Amino acid sequence: MKCFYYFKDRTGNRVQRSSPELKDPDKSDVSADVRVSNSSCSVASQRSIPELYEEKAQNLRVFSFSELRQATNNFNLLLKIGEGGFGSVYKGAIKPVDGKGDPIVVAIKKLNRDSFQGHKQWIAEVQFLGVLEHPNLVKLIGYCAADGKRGIQRLLVYEFMPNKSLEDHVFNRAYPALPWQTRLQILLGAAQGLAYLHEEIEVQVIYRDFKASNVLLDEDFKPKLSDFGLAREGPTAGHTHVSTAVVGTFGYAAPDYIQTGHLTTKSDVWSFGVVLYEILAGRRSLDRNLPRSEQKLLDLVKQFPADSKKFSLLMDPRLDNQYSLNAARRIAKLADSCLMKSAKDRPKMSQVVESLKQIIQVSDEGSPFEKSSECNENDSVDKESSETGVSESGRRRMAHLAKLSEHVGGVSRRGFMIMQRAKVT
Ligand SMILES: Nc1ncnc2c1ncn2[C@@H]1O[C@H](COP(=O)(O)OP(=O)(O)OP(=O)(O)O)[C@@H](O)[C@H]1O
Ligand SMILES: [Mg+2]
Repeated sequence: MKCFYYFKDRTGNRVQRSSPELKDPDKSDVSADVRVSNSSCSVASQRSIPELYEEKAQNLRVFSFSELRQATNNFNLLLKIGEGGFGSVYKGAIKPVDGKGDPIVVAIKKLNRDSFQGHKQWIAEVQFLGVLEHPNLVKLIGYCAADGKRGIQRLLVYEFMPNKSLEDHVFNRAYPALPWQTRLQILLGAAQGLAYLHEEIEVQVIYRDFKASNVLLDEDFKPKLSDFGLAREGPTAGHTHVSTAVVGTFGYAAPDYIQTGHLTTKSDVWSFGVVLYEILAGRRSLDRNLPRSEQKLLDLVKQFPADSKKFSLLMDPRLDNQYSLNAARRIAKLADSCLMKSAKDRPKMSQVVESLKQIIQVSDEGSPFEKSSECNENDSVDKESSETGVSESGRRRMAHLAKLSEHVGGVSRRGFMIMQRAKVT
């Protein structure tokens, strides 16, 4: 296949350690998208990611396939910790560079063999993560590219993130509910990661795959963005956007990008807005297990505007009222601004970071009973009391939801039913 051509072993060696040089002949990859000119936007990009990569390539370790096979006990299924569109992820242990000291625990992603798309993404991932460095980006330790008699092998070795992904904690009910403050801190960290990519480095980087499953969590639940396989360099000076084939994840990609293929940093801002609502509601942006009319979170949120009394019905029942309603409303408004139809009306990620910092401050200062005072306003539920316990508060909440749903008509009643389902599953 075309993409494998570049990695074919022309020397005739069966198994070959890859060269750290990863230039891709396919010009659509990483930095060479067709750029469309007609704007005043200017991004001073002197050097491309592949150029920067050449400078930093020596920081990455190059592993042999047998080293990684050993590190994962021959890719033992018991060590498999995840699976994505790219391939399987294993927990493993590698030797320190100098061979001394304790083994280092890592995550090893093994590309599905013979995947053209996966191969392109592997190159992009190595180049971007070889260059980028930020506390909110996952660290790539090294990679392996081996061409053997049974085909090519492409692997990536990352720092191990012990707390899985944001997706696991928000949507998988096998995990305890994430507390409100933790959710806010995760959102702030993820926003800082995106702001770094968009605004803080020599080359502007558009991440293009911002979603809950790509936000990994370290031992302190600090978020780190992973998966740079779809990342692209932003437009160069004098250009508004990059023209690309439309790729990404359904439910997160900006509609303007889907329609035109014009990619900007504001496409990431849209995706961030989607995740803000996912974290508030504890619901996936697209849930195909629900009836068709209820599948899209962004359709649902329109029925529960941030300023309305029924807004609290949108909130994740697993928060069990332990959040600041005022802060939640402000998050929803921030999400609305990220989800503006026109990309240029969306805020920059640095502005999102600032807003989140302010909201977190408000949330910290807010009374824990803020939520229940709103319930009193609605004349439906007594003041929440810390002595009442979870089940009592849950009962009151359901009564409150039922009462509200009578007032807000059929459409919202449907929303209420969704919340009920979310609570019991
Ligand atoms: N560095 C890491 N440390 C610990 N676990 C990881 C690491 N990288 C990935 N994982 C685990 O592997 C899972 C799968 O990751 P992967 O990126 O392959 O797929 P995905 O994000 O679910 O989907 P997609 O292929 O669309 O990105 C993650 O959800 C996470 O649980
Ligand atoms: Mg991923």
